[in-house]
Amino acid sequence: MRACVYAVSVCVLLQCVCASTSSAPKNMSFEYPEARRDETVVDDYHGTKIKDPYRWLEDPDSNETKEFIEAENKITRPYLDACPVKSDINERLTELWNYPKYSCPFRRGDRYFFFKNTGLQNQNVLYVQDSLDGEPRVFLDPNTLSEDGTIALSGSRFTEDGATFAYGLSASGSDWITIHLKDVATGKDYPEVLEKVKFASMSWSKDNKGLFYSRYPEQTGKTDGSETEVNRDQKLCYHRLNTPQSEDVIVVEFPEEPLWRIGAEVTDCGRYLIVSPVKDCRDNLLYFADLSKHPDVSGLLPLTQIVHKFEADYEYVTNEGSVAIFRTNKNAPNYRLIKIDLDNPAEENWETLIPEHPSDVLDWASAVDNDKLIIHYVRDVKSVLQVHNLSNGQLIQNLPLEVGSVVGFSGKKEQREIFYHFMSFLTPGVIYHVDFTKTPHEPTVFREVKVKGFDASQYEAKQVFYSSKDGTKVPMFIVSKKDLALDGSNPALIYGYGGFNINIQPSFSVTRLVFMQHLRGVVAIPNIRGGGEYGERWHNAGRLLNKQNVFDDFQAAAEYLIEEKYTKPELITIQGGSNGGLLVAACINQRPDLYGAAIVQVGVLDMLRFQKFTIGHAWVSDYGSSDNSTHFQNLLKYSPLHNIQPPSDERSEYPATLVLTADHDDRVVPLHSLKFIAALQHAVRGSAQRRPLLARVDTKAGHGGGKPTAKIIEEHTDILCFITQALHLKFVK
Ligand SMILES: *[C@@H]1O[C@H](CO)[C@@H](O)[C@H](O)[C@H]1NC(C)=O
Ligand SMILES: *[C@@H]1O[C@H](CO)[C@@H](O)[C@H](O)[C@H]1NC(C)=O
Ligand SMILES: *[C@@H]1O[C@H](CO)[C@@H](O)[C@H](O)[C@H]1NC(C)=O
Ligand SMILES: *[C@@H]1O[C@H](CO)[C@@H](O)[C@H](O)[C@H]1NC(C)=O
Repeated sequence: MRACVYAVSVCVLLQCVCASTSSAPKNMSFEYPEARRDETVVDDYHGTKIKDPYRWLEDPDSNETKEFIEAENKITRPYLDACPVKSDINERLTELWNYPKYSCPFRRGDRYFFFKNTGLQNQNVLYVQDSLDGEPRVFLDPNTLSEDGTIALSGSRFTEDGATFAYGLSASGSDWITIHLKDVATGKDYPEVLEKVKFASMSWSKDNKGLFYSRYPEQTGKTDGSETEVNRDQKLCYHRLNTPQSEDVIVVEFPEEPLWRIGAEVTDCGRYLIVSPVKDCRDNLLYFADLSKHPDVSGLLPLTQIVHKFEADYEYVTNEGSVAIFRTNKNAPNYRLIKIDLDNPAEENWETLIPEHPSDVLDWASAVDNDKLIIHYVRDVKSVLQVHNLSNGQLIQNLPLEVGSVVGFSGKKEQREIFYHFMSFLTPGVIYHVDFTKTPHEPTVFREVKVKGFDASQYEAKQVFYSSKDGTKVPMFIVSKKDLALDGSNPALIYGYGGFNINIQPSFSVTRLVFMQHLRGVVAIPNIRGGGEYGERWHNAGRLLNKQNVFDDFQAAAEYLIEEKYTKPELITIQGGSNGGLLVAACINQRPDLYGAAIVQVGVLDMLRFQKFTIGHAWVSDYGSSDNSTHFQNLLKYSPLHNIQPPSDERSEYPATLVLTADHDDRVVPLHSLKFIAALQHAVRGSAQRRPLLARVDTKAGHGGGKPTAKIIEEHTDILCFITQALHLKFVK
């Protein structure tokens, strides 16, 4: 579970040489809404006075804010709808999207489950089957829960015996969920619903009687994800099945630390509860409770503290008796596995099970087949999957993969089989199965997905390493048709994220496919600093006072593509979401000359005030906070809202920019986008700016998680239409 700001991955490709239609729009002139400027709002940051004339846009419920949103949509919608190839784009996206998507099957109790989407269903459907080759039956279909697909499954856990299913539902893309409990055999829900749940870990006691989960107290006003109130005072609770939530007991709380979030997991053996508080987006403390001493779980659990300082990540993997295995980056920026004896947990007694690899990042580990560990490494941004010996950590075998990503895995310590899901730029999905009862442990293809009308042989994906401003070598994937002419004439879509230790690994994307096939584009994904592609060092090199490196790496990616004649500035679109929205917005302020268009999705754009809303305070670990004068000075240098420059001539004109947000985004609240677009439109009034600067504000949608397919296709159609119009691209049928 992460409360962090992450990108919605958009996404890939085909071809043909048919008649092309020119889609160059008439040069529209824009009458941007005149947003009221309140020059009286001035904050004093450590002696520096900063105006915030659009403070009023921070109130999502005021009529004035609603009117502003309406006025913005009123100029954006006609621009997007005027795209002469809108229906071509939409039809092609819809056609390519319509292929079946599957998750790995997983066994719970004596049944198998898997998620499937037939192609265009708004939400994935959970199926059950009695055996791997048995007839699948629908177990839970979220599509039946709302007319428009805006209710989504968000988190779920089966009991150990597979008899009960706890599942979270979120509405309109909000982070808030309600937890429901289902009797697996009958398919009937228990009467109780658990409310006020957000950023929740869920873990069942191994006697199958109750659920540990984290929740927030009642808050005043709305709690539907359209509010901006800070999330505080999370508690870890225990819910006994088939009782009302009002009878739940608080088992762990830290009343003096209102901003902590409390993760918890019952160990594989059922004896211990591992408790891991976190205050931002890295580093956690570690405690445990011995449940065997408190089988009734009737109140606060006595905790033994293992880790006392926020200085590293610790993630429970499994345990053998009192010896628990954790994945950590303590003294190991690329992560290692350690053993902690809970009977003797002092740090000097910890042992290393799998040492840190000098270059590959140990991304996750999972115990399987009783005595083995599956280890997922990230090696130069590509997945490596291995089987190791659980008792001594030694490598047993590699599970060979092509260049790409493991995007799904299922397997448990007590089960003798695993499944893993592979994906890449040109591979929509292959699910492999390893049966450990058979030797050798050969992976077999369990299921392979095909996309109608997509011929991977016409495309190529490669990885290059380019030099950033300070000489750092940065990896970048470049995907395009094989016959791409390197004459600078191709439209390019550069997608980046650069934060929060997150890896942007290869994935399959129908939207990028349309861009490559029909707009003759090249897609580039630079794995810039701030991400976790090379472990904690890569992350540290792009956070706090090093954040400018992230932007420099991104600009250098564009310069590399120009230099190598893939494209030219006026044909470059940059795109990013969330922390990636910050990236794109900072880059258009810093180098407007380098890009033709920019897509800023659900971005963090007011760097002086982000920590004041919902879960924003958790991002201080990546950004720092304006409450600290050193960080204030640093944030002020790149904060997109505070670095807008009216263009003095055509060269410094902003790229055509589309800012996207939605009314139920309670991760990165919409006020960031609203204040930014108001300031941007104000700054260019009467200037040399000709290219459009627009905002698209969606309704009944959030940060991206759980978005129904219909809304995703609409949004991607609009993004491709915006790029097509703004860059005067031709749609090749
Ligand atoms: C739109 O304006 C640009 C720059 O002013 C110009 O180069 C272009 O020819 C115009 N396009 C049309 C279709 O009028
Ligand atoms: C906001 O608009 C609604 C509907 O137009 C109106 O009834 C209400 O009085 C307005 N509220 C304020 C504070 O102006
Ligand atoms: C793990 O190593 C131990 C000790 O060398 C050995 O006895 C055991 O058979 C190994 N297990 C596996 C699954 O290879
Ligand atoms: C402000 O941040 C700097 C740089 O991270 C740090 O050294 C300093 O201790 C912080 N100051 C306060 C008052 O927290």
